[in-house]
Amino acid sequence: MSRLVVVSNRVAVPGENRAGGLATGLLAALRERGGLWFGWSGRSTATSGALHEHTDGAIRLLTMDLSKADLDTYYNGFSNRTLWPLLHFRLDLVDYDRSKRAGYWRVNRLFADTLAPLLREDDTVWIHDYHLIPLASLLRERGVGCRIGFFLHVPVPSADLIHALPDHRALFQTLHAYDLLGFQTRRDVDRFQSYVRLFGGGSLIDSQWIQAPDGRRVRTSAFPIGIDTEHIARQARSAAGNSAVRALRQSLQHRKLAIGVDRLDYSKGLPERFHGFERYLSRHPQDKGTMTFLQIAPVSRGSVNEYRKLRGELEQLAGHINGSHAEADWTPLRYVNQNYAHSTLTGFYREAAVGLVTPLRDGMNLVAKEYIAAQNPEDPGMLVLSLLAGAADELQQALLVNPHDLDGVADAIATAANMPRAERIERWQTMMQHLREFDINRWRRDYLQALEAAP
Ligand code: G6P
Repeated sequence: MSRLVVVSNRVAVPGENRAGGLATGLLAALRERGGLWFGWSGRSTATSGALHEHTDGAIRLLTMDLSKADLDTYYNGFSNRTLWPLLHFRLDLVDYDRSKRAGYWRVNRLFADTLAPLLREDDTVWIHDYHLIPLASLLRERGVGCRIGFFLHVPVPSADLIHALPDHRALFQTLHAYDLLGFQTRRDVDRFQSYVRLFGGGSLIDSQWIQAPDGRRVRTSAFPIGIDTEHIARQARSAAGNSAVRALRQSLQHRKLAIGVDRLDYSKGLPERFHGFERYLSRHPQDKGTMTFLQIAPVSRGSVNEYRKLRGELEQLAGHINGSHAEADWTPLRYVNQNYAHSTLTGFYREAAVGLVTPLRDGMNLVAKEYIAAQNPEDPGMLVLSLLAGAADELQQALLVNPHDLDGVADAIATAANMPRAERIERWQTMMQHLREFDINRWRRDYLQALEAAP
Protein backbone atom coordinates (compact mmCIF):
# COMPACT_ATOMS: atom_id res chain seq x y z
CA MET A 1 0.00 0.00 0.00
CA SER A 2 1.44 3.37 -0.92
CA ARG A 3 1.96 6.15 1.60
CA LEU A 4 -0.99 8.52 2.01
CA VAL A 5 -0.53 12.27 1.96
CA VAL A 6 -3.53 14.34 3.05
CA VAL A 7 -3.67 18.07 2.39
CA SER A 8 -6.35 20.37 3.78
CA ASN A 9 -6.54 23.94 5.01
CA ARG A 10 -7.12 22.79 8.59
CA VAL A 11 -5.15 19.95 10.11
CA ALA A 12 -6.45 18.10 13.15
CA VAL A 13 -3.31 18.11 15.27
CA PRO A 14 -4.22 15.81 18.18
CA GLY A 15 -4.56 17.78 21.39
CA GLU A 16 -4.71 21.13 19.57
CA ASN A 17 -7.92 21.05 17.58
CA ARG A 18 -11.28 19.50 18.26
CA ALA A 19 -11.13 16.27 16.24
CA GLY A 20 -14.41 16.07 14.31
CA GLY A 21 -15.66 13.04 12.45
CA LEU A 22 -13.74 13.80 9.28
CA ALA A 23 -10.48 14.14 11.19
CA THR A 24 -11.10 10.83 12.91
CA GLY A 25 -11.62 9.12 9.55
CA LEU A 26 -8.57 10.64 7.94
CA LEU A 27 -6.38 9.91 10.95
CA ALA A 28 -7.53 6.27 10.82
CA ALA A 29 -6.53 6.06 7.13
CA LEU A 30 -3.16 7.66 7.88
CA ARG A 31 -2.57 5.28 10.80
CA GLU A 32 -3.38 2.27 8.63
CA ARG A 33 -0.93 3.17 5.87
CA GLY A 34 1.48 5.61 7.44
CA GLY A 35 1.63 9.08 6.01
CA LEU A 36 1.70 12.80 6.12
CA TRP A 37 -0.99 15.44 6.76
CA PHE A 38 -0.14 18.93 5.62
CA GLY A 39 -1.97 22.25 6.00
CA TRP A 40 -2.25 25.63 7.73
CA SER A 41 -1.16 25.80 11.38
CA GLY A 42 -4.16 27.92 12.38
CA ARG A 43 -1.73 30.70 13.33
CA SER A 44 -1.47 34.21 11.91
CA THR A 45 2.13 35.43 11.97
CA ALA A 46 4.23 38.28 10.55
CA THR A 47 5.43 36.22 7.55
CA SER A 48 4.20 33.01 5.95
CA GLY A 49 6.14 29.79 5.73
CA ALA A 50 7.34 28.67 9.18
CA LEU A 51 6.70 24.93 9.55
CA HIS A 52 5.71 22.93 12.62
CA GLU A 53 5.99 19.22 12.86
CA HIS A 54 4.27 16.69 15.14
CA THR A 55 4.50 12.95 14.96
CA ASP A 56 1.84 10.59 16.14
CA GLY A 57 2.92 6.97 15.60
CA ALA A 58 3.26 6.43 11.86
CA ILE A 59 1.72 9.83 11.07
CA ARG A 60 3.61 13.01 10.44
CA LEU A 61 1.60 16.21 10.83
CA LEU A 62 3.19 19.19 9.15
CA THR A 63 1.63 22.64 9.44
CA MET A 64 2.57 26.03 8.08
CA ASP A 65 2.06 29.51 9.54
CA LEU A 66 0.44 32.11 7.30
CA SER A 67 0.87 35.86 7.46
CA LYS A 68 -2.02 38.14 8.26
CA ALA A 69 -1.95 39.48 4.68
CA ASP A 70 -2.06 35.95 3.23
CA LEU A 71 -4.89 34.96 5.55
CA ASP A 72 -6.89 38.08 4.71
CA THR A 73 -6.74 37.35 1.00
CA TYR A 74 -6.52 33.54 0.80
CA TYR A 75 -8.69 32.42 3.75
CA ASN A 76 -11.01 35.29 4.78
CA GLY A 77 -10.97 36.72 1.28
CA PHE A 78 -11.12 34.43 -1.73
CA SER A 79 -11.95 31.18 0.13
CA ASN A 80 -14.61 32.51 2.48
CA ARG A 81 -15.96 35.66 0.80
CA THR A 82 -15.78 34.54 -2.83
CA LEU A 83 -15.81 30.75 -3.15
CA TRP A 84 -17.87 29.83 -0.06
CA PRO A 85 -20.92 31.95 -0.99
CA LEU A 86 -20.59 30.99 -4.68
CA LEU A 87 -20.48 27.28 -3.88
CA HIS A 88 -23.48 27.68 -1.57
CA PHE A 89 -25.55 29.31 -4.36
CA ARG A 90 -25.23 32.80 -2.82
CA LEU A 91 -24.12 34.94 -5.74
CA ASP A 92 -25.61 37.92 -3.86
CA LEU A 93 -22.92 37.53 -1.18
CA VAL A 94 -19.96 36.91 -3.49
CA ASP A 95 -17.26 39.50 -2.97
CA TYR A 96 -14.62 39.28 -5.67
CA ASP A 97 -11.48 41.22 -6.22
CA ARG A 98 -8.23 40.47 -7.95
CA SER A 99 -6.04 41.01 -4.90
CA LYS A 100 -7.96 38.31 -2.99
CA ARG A 101 -7.67 35.95 -5.95
CA ALA A 102 -3.92 36.67 -6.14
CA GLY A 103 -3.54 35.86 -2.43
CA TYR A 104 -5.37 32.57 -2.92
CA TRP A 105 -3.02 31.56 -5.72
CA ARG A 106 0.01 32.78 -3.75
CA VAL A 107 -0.82 30.55 -0.78
CA ASN A 108 -1.60 27.60 -3.05
CA ARG A 109 1.83 28.09 -4.68
CA LEU A 110 3.44 28.24 -1.25
CA PHE A 111 1.70 24.97 -0.35
CA ALA A 112 2.98 23.43 -3.62
CA ASP A 113 6.55 24.69 -3.09
CA THR A 114 6.61 23.23 0.42
CA LEU A 115 4.96 19.94 -0.42
CA ALA A 116 6.51 19.02 -3.78
CA PRO A 117 10.00 18.17 -2.43
CA LEU A 118 8.44 15.93 0.24
CA LEU A 119 6.51 13.73 -2.19
CA ARG A 120 7.60 10.35 -3.48
CA GLU A 121 6.79 8.79 -6.82
CA ASP A 122 4.45 6.17 -5.33
CA ASP A 123 2.59 8.39 -2.83
CA THR A 124 -1.18 8.76 -2.95
CA VAL A 125 -2.07 12.42 -2.40
CA TRP A 126 -5.57 13.39 -1.25
CA ILE A 127 -6.43 17.12 -1.30
CA HIS A 128 -9.52 18.46 0.46
CA ASP A 129 -11.93 21.28 -0.17
CA TYR A 130 -12.34 24.63 -1.88
CA HIS A 131 -9.32 26.30 -0.29
CA LEU A 132 -6.95 24.21 -2.41
CA ILE A 133 -8.56 23.74 -5.84
CA PRO A 134 -5.43 24.58 -7.92
CA LEU A 135 -2.98 22.63 -5.77
CA ALA A 136 -2.70 19.53 -8.00
CA SER A 137 -1.96 21.60 -11.10
CA LEU A 138 0.71 23.54 -9.18
CA LEU A 139 2.25 20.27 -7.97
CA ARG A 140 2.24 18.91 -11.53
CA GLU A 141 4.07 22.08 -12.67
CA ARG A 142 6.71 21.20 -10.08
CA GLY A 143 7.17 17.74 -11.55
CA VAL A 144 4.96 15.71 -9.21
CA GLY A 145 3.74 12.62 -11.06
CA CYS A 146 2.02 10.56 -8.34
CA ARG A 147 -1.73 9.96 -8.00
CA ILE A 148 -3.59 13.03 -6.74
CA GLY A 149 -7.26 13.07 -5.78
CA PHE A 150 -9.58 15.90 -4.72
CA PHE A 151 -12.66 15.81 -2.53
CA LEU A 152 -15.04 18.76 -2.32
CA HIS A 153 -16.87 18.85 1.02
CA VAL A 154 -19.28 21.61 -0.03
CA PRO A 155 -21.90 21.73 -2.81
CA VAL A 156 -21.28 22.43 -6.48
CA PRO A 157 -23.65 25.19 -7.63
CA SER A 158 -25.37 25.41 -10.99
CA ALA A 159 -23.15 26.04 -14.00
CA ASP A 160 -24.53 29.54 -14.55
CA LEU A 161 -23.48 30.60 -11.07
CA ILE A 162 -19.92 29.40 -11.57
CA HIS A 163 -19.95 31.14 -14.94
CA ALA A 164 -20.58 34.44 -13.13
CA LEU A 165 -17.24 34.21 -11.29
CA PRO A 166 -14.58 36.32 -13.05
CA ASP A 167 -11.85 34.03 -14.34
CA HIS A 168 -13.81 30.91 -13.45
CA ARG A 169 -12.09 28.90 -16.18
CA ALA A 170 -8.55 29.57 -14.98
CA LEU A 171 -9.57 28.26 -11.57
CA PHE A 172 -11.89 25.37 -12.37
CA GLN A 173 -9.81 24.00 -15.24
CA THR A 174 -7.03 23.25 -12.76
CA LEU A 175 -9.30 20.45 -11.50
CA HIS A 176 -8.34 18.50 -14.61
CA ALA A 177 -4.88 17.93 -13.08
CA TYR A 178 -6.43 15.48 -10.57
CA ASP A 179 -6.89 11.76 -11.15
CA LEU A 180 -10.18 11.64 -9.26
CA LEU A 181 -12.71 14.32 -8.37
CA GLY A 182 -14.96 13.31 -5.48
CA PHE A 183 -18.21 15.09 -4.62
CA GLN A 184 -20.78 14.59 -1.87
CA THR A 185 -23.81 13.65 -3.98
CA ARG A 186 -24.70 12.60 -7.47
CA ARG A 187 -26.41 15.96 -7.96
CA ASP A 188 -23.08 17.71 -7.31
CA VAL A 189 -21.42 15.47 -9.91
CA ASP A 190 -24.17 16.30 -12.41
CA ARG A 191 -23.84 20.04 -11.82
CA PHE A 192 -20.06 19.88 -12.15
CA GLN A 193 -20.31 17.91 -15.36
CA SER A 194 -22.80 20.35 -16.78
CA TYR A 195 -20.41 23.22 -15.95
CA VAL A 196 -17.55 21.36 -17.71
CA ARG A 197 -19.72 20.90 -20.78
CA LEU A 198 -21.30 24.37 -20.91
CA PHE A 199 -18.51 26.68 -19.80
CA GLY A 200 -15.42 24.67 -18.83
CA GLY A 201 -14.22 23.78 -22.31
CA GLY A 202 -14.37 20.03 -21.68
CA SER A 203 -16.79 17.27 -22.58
CA LEU A 204 -18.47 14.26 -21.01
CA ILE A 205 -17.42 10.74 -21.86
CA ASP A 206 -20.02 8.98 -19.74
CA SER A 207 -21.70 9.42 -16.36
CA GLN A 208 -18.34 9.06 -14.53
CA TRP A 209 -15.69 10.45 -16.84
CA ILE A 210 -15.01 13.87 -18.26
CA GLN A 211 -12.52 14.85 -20.92
CA ALA A 212 -10.44 17.98 -20.40
CA PRO A 213 -9.71 20.34 -23.32
CA ASP A 214 -6.19 18.83 -23.55
CA GLY A 215 -7.65 15.32 -23.92
CA ARG A 216 -6.91 14.21 -20.35
CA ARG A 217 -9.61 12.00 -18.81
CA VAL A 218 -10.70 12.57 -15.21
CA ARG A 219 -13.09 10.48 -13.18
CA THR A 220 -15.84 12.42 -11.38
CA SER A 221 -17.90 10.48 -8.82
CA ALA A 222 -20.01 10.86 -5.71
CA PHE A 223 -18.67 9.64 -2.36
CA PRO A 224 -21.20 10.74 0.27
CA ILE A 225 -19.23 11.25 3.46
CA GLY A 226 -20.26 9.26 6.53
CA ILE A 227 -19.66 9.42 10.27
CA ASP A 228 -18.06 7.06 12.76
CA THR A 229 -21.50 5.61 13.47
CA GLU A 230 -20.67 3.01 16.13
CA HIS A 231 -18.34 5.35 17.97
CA ILE A 232 -20.98 8.09 18.13
CA ALA A 233 -23.65 5.68 19.29
CA ARG A 234 -21.36 4.51 22.11
CA GLN A 235 -20.31 8.05 22.97
CA ALA A 236 -23.94 9.22 23.20
CA ARG A 237 -24.84 6.28 25.46
CA SER A 238 -22.08 7.00 27.89
CA ALA A 239 -22.54 10.78 27.72
CA ALA A 240 -25.96 10.34 29.36
CA GLY A 241 -24.18 10.40 32.73
CA ASN A 242 -22.05 13.45 31.84
CA SER A 243 -22.71 16.41 34.16
CA ALA A 244 -23.54 18.87 31.34
CA VAL A 245 -26.07 16.42 29.90
CA ARG A 246 -27.63 15.77 33.31
CA ALA A 247 -27.85 19.50 33.96
CA LEU A 248 -29.58 20.04 30.61
CA ARG A 249 -32.05 17.23 31.32
CA GLN A 250 -32.92 18.61 34.75
CA SER A 251 -33.34 22.14 33.42
CA LEU A 252 -35.98 20.97 30.94
CA GLN A 253 -38.38 19.99 33.73
CA HIS A 254 -39.90 17.18 31.64
CA ARG A 255 -40.42 19.35 28.61
CA LYS A 256 -39.38 18.04 25.21
CA LEU A 257 -36.13 19.28 23.72
CA ALA A 258 -35.56 20.33 20.12
CA ILE A 259 -31.93 20.83 19.20
CA GLY A 260 -29.90 22.52 16.47
CA VAL A 261 -26.09 22.57 16.33
CA ASP A 262 -24.40 24.58 13.57
CA ARG A 263 -21.44 26.82 12.96
CA LEU A 264 -22.81 30.36 12.89
CA ASP A 265 -22.94 30.46 9.09
CA TYR A 266 -25.51 31.95 6.69
CA SER A 267 -25.65 28.67 4.75
CA LYS A 268 -27.21 26.99 7.80
CA GLY A 269 -30.52 28.85 7.55
CA LEU A 270 -30.59 29.90 11.20
CA PRO A 271 -32.85 32.98 10.90
CA GLU A 272 -35.28 30.88 8.83
CA ARG A 273 -35.13 28.14 11.49
CA PHE A 274 -35.87 30.66 14.27
CA HIS A 275 -38.81 32.01 12.27
CA GLY A 276 -39.97 28.44 11.59
CA PHE A 277 -39.89 27.67 15.29
CA GLU A 278 -41.85 30.81 16.07
CA ARG A 279 -44.38 29.81 13.41
CA TYR A 280 -44.67 26.43 15.13
CA LEU A 281 -45.57 28.19 18.37
CA SER A 282 -48.30 30.17 16.67
CA ARG A 283 -49.65 27.43 14.39
CA HIS A 284 -49.71 24.78 17.11
CA PRO A 285 -50.90 26.59 20.23
CA GLN A 286 -51.75 23.26 21.91
CA ASP A 287 -47.97 22.52 21.99
CA LYS A 288 -47.15 25.82 23.69
CA GLY A 289 -44.97 25.33 26.76
CA THR A 290 -44.26 21.67 25.97
CA MET A 291 -40.96 22.14 24.13
CA THR A 292 -37.68 24.02 24.52
CA PHE A 293 -35.55 24.69 21.48
CA LEU A 294 -31.79 24.72 22.15
CA GLN A 295 -29.76 26.23 19.32
CA ILE A 296 -25.99 25.90 19.74
CA ALA A 297 -24.15 28.09 17.22
CA PRO A 298 -20.42 28.57 17.85
CA VAL A 299 -19.11 31.73 16.19
CA SER A 300 -17.26 30.99 12.95
CA ARG A 301 -15.13 33.15 10.61
CA GLY A 302 -15.89 36.11 12.88
CA SER A 303 -13.72 38.55 10.91
CA VAL A 304 -15.86 38.18 7.79
CA ASN A 305 -18.54 40.88 7.68
CA GLU A 306 -21.49 38.69 6.59
CA TYR A 307 -20.89 36.43 9.60
CA ARG A 308 -20.85 39.39 11.99
CA LYS A 309 -24.09 40.69 10.50
CA LEU A 310 -25.74 37.30 10.90
CA ARG A 311 -24.71 37.17 14.54
CA GLY A 312 -26.40 40.51 15.20
CA GLU A 313 -29.54 39.38 13.38
CA LEU A 314 -29.81 36.17 15.39
CA GLU A 315 -29.34 37.96 18.70
CA GLN A 316 -32.19 40.26 17.82
CA LEU A 317 -34.44 37.44 16.65
CA ALA A 318 -33.79 35.32 19.74
CA GLY A 319 -34.71 38.28 21.93
CA HIS A 320 -37.85 38.88 19.92
CA ILE A 321 -39.03 35.26 20.06
CA ASN A 322 -38.49 34.94 23.79
CA GLY A 323 -39.94 38.38 24.44
CA SER A 324 -43.12 37.52 22.55
CA HIS A 325 -43.67 33.92 23.67
CA ALA A 326 -41.89 33.20 26.97
CA GLU A 327 -43.80 32.77 30.18
CA ALA A 328 -42.66 33.20 33.77
CA ASP A 329 -41.62 29.54 33.98
CA TRP A 330 -40.75 28.76 30.33
CA THR A 331 -38.32 30.18 27.78
CA PRO A 332 -39.00 28.71 24.34
CA LEU A 333 -35.56 29.36 22.81
CA ARG A 334 -32.10 28.94 24.30
CA TYR A 335 -29.55 30.45 21.98
CA VAL A 336 -25.95 29.57 22.85
CA ASN A 337 -22.76 30.66 21.04
CA GLN A 338 -20.48 28.52 23.19
CA ASN A 339 -18.87 25.39 21.78
CA TYR A 340 -19.16 22.01 23.54
CA ALA A 341 -17.00 18.91 23.53
CA HIS A 342 -18.11 16.53 20.81
CA SER A 343 -19.00 13.83 23.35
CA THR A 344 -21.26 16.27 25.24
CA LEU A 345 -23.04 17.18 22.00
CA THR A 346 -23.82 13.53 21.30
CA GLY A 347 -25.35 13.35 24.79
CA PHE A 348 -27.46 16.45 24.01
CA TYR A 349 -28.62 14.87 20.73
CA ARG A 350 -29.80 11.80 22.60
CA GLU A 351 -31.87 13.96 24.96
CA ALA A 352 -33.59 15.72 22.08
CA ALA A 353 -36.98 14.53 20.84
CA VAL A 354 -36.51 16.66 17.72
CA GLY A 355 -33.33 17.37 15.73
CA LEU A 356 -33.51 20.50 13.56
CA VAL A 357 -31.12 20.53 10.60
CA THR A 358 -32.45 23.05 8.10
CA PRO A 359 -29.61 24.55 6.05
CA LEU A 360 -30.39 26.57 2.91
CA ARG A 361 -27.53 24.62 1.26
CA ASP A 362 -25.13 22.08 2.64
CA GLY A 363 -22.68 19.70 1.01
CA MET A 364 -23.65 16.88 3.37
CA ASN A 365 -24.29 17.96 6.98
CA LEU A 366 -22.81 15.57 9.50
CA VAL A 367 -24.92 16.88 12.41
CA ALA A 368 -27.94 15.23 10.75
CA LYS A 369 -26.14 11.89 10.68
CA GLU A 370 -24.74 12.26 14.18
CA TYR A 371 -28.17 13.12 15.58
CA ILE A 372 -29.51 9.82 14.22
CA ALA A 373 -26.53 7.79 15.45
CA ALA A 374 -26.85 9.26 18.96
CA GLN A 375 -30.49 8.23 19.50
CA ASN A 376 -31.78 5.72 22.01
CA PRO A 377 -32.97 2.73 19.88
CA GLU A 378 -35.94 2.17 22.19
CA ASP A 379 -37.20 5.75 22.05
CA PRO A 380 -35.48 7.63 19.23
CA GLY A 381 -36.06 11.29 18.48
CA MET A 382 -37.14 12.51 15.05
CA LEU A 383 -35.03 14.47 12.59
CA VAL A 384 -36.42 17.44 10.66
CA LEU A 385 -34.05 17.79 7.71
CA SER A 386 -33.71 20.29 4.88
CA LEU A 387 -34.04 18.73 1.48
CA LEU A 388 -31.30 21.13 0.38
CA ALA A 389 -28.67 19.31 2.47
CA GLY A 390 -26.70 16.49 0.84
CA ALA A 391 -27.71 14.23 3.75
CA ALA A 392 -31.34 14.33 2.57
CA ASP A 393 -30.45 12.05 -0.36
CA GLU A 394 -29.62 9.31 2.14
CA LEU A 395 -31.86 10.08 5.14
CA GLN A 396 -35.18 9.74 3.36
CA GLN A 397 -37.01 8.61 6.50
CA ALA A 398 -36.40 11.96 8.19
CA LEU A 399 -39.11 14.60 7.92
CA LEU A 400 -37.81 16.42 4.86
CA VAL A 401 -38.64 20.11 4.65
CA ASN A 402 -37.94 23.05 2.43
CA PRO A 403 -36.25 25.53 4.79
CA HIS A 404 -37.81 28.48 2.95
CA ASP A 405 -41.33 27.21 3.70
CA LEU A 406 -41.86 28.36 7.28
CA ASP A 407 -45.32 26.76 7.60
CA GLY A 408 -43.83 23.49 6.38
CA VAL A 409 -41.01 23.67 8.92
CA ALA A 410 -43.49 24.57 11.69
CA ASP A 411 -45.76 21.63 10.86
CA ALA A 412 -42.80 19.23 10.62
CA ILE A 413 -41.67 20.25 14.12
CA ALA A 414 -45.17 19.49 15.42
CA THR A 415 -45.30 16.15 13.54
CA ALA A 416 -41.86 15.16 14.86
CA ALA A 417 -42.73 16.11 18.44
CA ASN A 418 -45.95 14.11 18.38
CA MET A 419 -44.96 11.12 16.25
CA PRO A 420 -45.93 7.73 17.75
CA ARG A 421 -43.03 5.73 19.09
CA ALA A 422 -43.51 2.76 16.71
CA GLU A 423 -43.21 5.03 13.69
CA ARG A 424 -40.13 6.77 15.11
CA ILE A 425 -38.46 3.41 15.71
CA GLU A 426 -39.22 2.18 12.23
CA ARG A 427 -37.89 5.30 10.53
CA TRP A 428 -34.83 5.41 12.79
CA GLN A 429 -33.90 1.77 12.16
CA THR A 430 -33.80 2.25 8.40
CA MET A 431 -31.63 5.36 8.67
CA MET A 432 -29.34 3.81 11.29
CA GLN A 433 -28.79 0.72 9.16
CA HIS A 434 -27.72 2.94 6.29
CA LEU A 435 -25.35 4.94 8.53
CA ARG A 436 -23.81 1.73 9.84
CA GLU A 437 -23.12 0.47 6.35
CA PHE A 438 -21.94 3.77 4.86
CA ASP A 439 -19.79 5.05 7.70
CA ILE A 440 -16.64 7.17 7.60
CA ASN A 441 -14.39 4.14 7.07
CA ARG A 442 -16.42 2.97 4.12
CA TRP A 443 -16.19 6.48 2.65
CA ARG A 444 -12.41 6.75 2.77
CA ARG A 445 -11.93 3.16 1.62
CA ASP A 446 -14.24 3.66 -1.37
CA TYR A 447 -12.55 6.93 -2.24
CA LEU A 448 -8.97 5.66 -1.96
CA GLN A 449 -9.81 2.49 -3.84
CA ALA A 450 -11.22 4.55 -6.72
CA LEU A 451 -8.21 6.88 -6.64
CA GLU A 452 -5.77 4.00 -6.71
CA ALA A 453 -7.65 2.35 -9.56
CA ALA A 454 -7.26 5.51 -11.69
CA PRO A 455 -5.17 4.75 -14.79
C1 G6P B 1 -16.82 23.51 6.27
C2 G6P B 1 -15.71 23.33 5.24
C3 G6P B 1 -14.42 22.91 5.93
C4 G6P B 1 -14.09 23.85 7.06
C5 G6P B 1 -15.25 23.93 8.05
C6 G6P B 1 -15.00 24.91 9.20
O1 G6P B 1 -17.21 22.28 6.77
O2 G6P B 1 -16.10 22.39 4.26
O3 G6P B 1 -13.36 22.90 4.98
O4 G6P B 1 -12.91 23.47 7.71
O5 G6P B 1 -16.40 24.34 7.34
O6 G6P B 1 -14.71 26.19 8.73
P1 G6P B 1 -13.33 26.91 9.02
O7 G6P B 1 -13.31 28.11 8.13
O8 G6P B 1 -13.38 27.26 10.48
O9 G6P B 1 -12.22 25.93 8.72
